[in-house]
Amino acid sequence: MSRRKTILDLQEMKAKGERIAVLTAYDYSLARLVDRGGIDLVLVGDSVGSIVSGYDTTLPVTMEEMLYHARAVVRGTETPLVVVDLPFLSYQIDLRDARLNAGRLIKEGGGQAVKLEGGENVAETIRAIVDMDIPVMGHIGLTPQSVHRMGGYKVQGRQEEQARQLLADARAVEAAGAFALVLEGIPAALARQITAAAAIPTIGIGAGVHCDGQVLVLHDILGLCEKYSPKFVKRYVDVSGTIVAGIEEYVREVKEGKFPGDEHSF
Ligand code: KIV
Repeated sequence: MSRRKTILDLQEMKAKGERIAVLTAYDYSLARLVDRGGIDLVLVGDSVGSIVSGYDTTLPVTMEEMLYHARAVVRGTETPLVVVDLPFLSYQIDLRDARLNAGRLIKEGGGQAVKLEGGENVAETIRAIVDMDIPVMGHIGLTPQSVHRMGGYKVQGRQEEQARQLLADARAVEAAGAFALVLEGIPAALARQITAAAAIPTIGIGAGVHCDGQVLVLHDILGLCEKYSPKFVKRYVDVSGTIVAGIEEYVREVKEGKFPGDEHSF
């Protein structure tokens, strides 16, 4: 059995120039496969709201939902570091809430770190959680919990002023004690600049190849989510067709009285 990775392993990977591979997972069965695939870090993202629960945004996701999915993913993995998202409204109101909810994701969810969205505006919150010895991953750029402020899921940092703000956000998140930083939906050149300036690993999604690592939603790379496919997603396999074919065959055999056969009967 291999030992679970820690935030120190990720920092060492950045120092050595070794790329970090990250995927989301939300349940036990797929988390086991993600672990077998050799992933470094598993993110129990609040994207679970759109992918698994069918919400239009991540905003309705609750702490109880995150705890449920975190426990399943932790049970299904041995090697990768498990980072759990703090959902909308679990850390924005005050520091007490933020500390309590981060603590719950570790104590009740079993994760080894938490992630939250924002830059300079959440630096104090990151500091408060890190002060409890809970590792925090930052997340700047296209932050889905801010969908209504952004007016949709739009690439951020294209204008000079926005880019300057994102550089300041990255600095603030690192200074507050975050161990890593997700860069989502920003120009590749800006992600390169942030990555070069940061001592902590950057993990990109729709942020080009120059980040220290990459993250994608598991269901997107497997072709399991047919809802939409953003430009930054690469579909490595398409299992939807295989699943539907299997289901169709089952339905046919049930209707025709071919299943169960003698070998499946007592
Ligand atoms: O919720 C999520 O899955 C995420 C990643 C895609 C970065 O935040």
